Amino acid sequence: MQSIARFQTMKATQQKISMVTCYDFWSAQLVAESAIDSILVGDSLAVVMHGFASTVHATLELMLPHVAAVARGAGDKVIIADMPFMTASSDLPAGVAAATALIQAGAHAVKIEGAKHQLTLIAHLVEAGLPVVGHLGLTPQAVLQLGGHRVQARTEAAASALIEEAEHLARAGISALVLECVPAKVASVLTQKLDCPVIGIGAGVQVDGQVLVLQDLLGANRGFHPKFLRKYADLAGDVVAALNHYHQDVTEGAFPAVCESYA
Ligand code: KIV
Repeated sequence: MQSIARFQTMKATQQKISMVTCYDFWSAQLVAESAIDSILVGDSLAVVMHGFASTVHATLELMLPHVAAVARGAGDKVIIADMPFMTASSDLPAGVAAATALIQAGAHAVKIEGAKHQLTLIAHLVEAGLPVVGHLGLTPQAVLQLGGHRVQARTEAAASALIEEAEHLARAGISALVLECVPAKVASVLTQKLDCPVIGIGAGVQVDGQVLVLQDLLGANRGFHPKFLRKYADLAGDVVAALNHYHQDVTEGAFPAVCESYA
């Protein structure tokens, strides 16, 4: 049985947790073959897979087929699904219904951005037995208010507020915390303070694990070069080169060969 509870043991034994986003069956199968610990079906799929400008366009209806497709390919990986924009900000029954739908589609935990009014829903879900992952720092669903994708908690006051919010989340019972785009020092302090694992993205190395968007780390997204990103492949370059090679073979009559044709 896949459970995020394992991450607590990993933190206790100082084993780093690796997480990648995944939005479809095809890539979930590849992640399943790898040593990666966990999959996040992030609401970033609205941007990466559907071409929207931000994650506020990820609706529950958009997310659910992606969660289900990932679950069909992910083998024994722990799957976390993002609660889409506003689903944790309306009333409690609506939040419970959204979380239930994501779990029934195949997720093993839900991730919720923010630590204000969301705390009631988080505590309720945890009490009901559903693991919840928090998300603080740069919370992309608040991009319209934040005025862009900027590093957060740069001042002492903002760092203290962030730490206080994280402590509220810990009291509400979160299983892990995603910390996005905060100074490494703040992330390090928070990681030491919290019992639950802290998974960083743009939060430095002194955290319990790292998460990256799969397409970003594979170099499939041209033109996206934030400071925190390390590209482990040039998938965009490789795919375009393969397509051009195929095009050339087709136009020159070099594909298919006799051995690729039926007698
Ligand atoms: O939606 C997402 O991909 C995320 C990660 C980048 C943390 O929330």
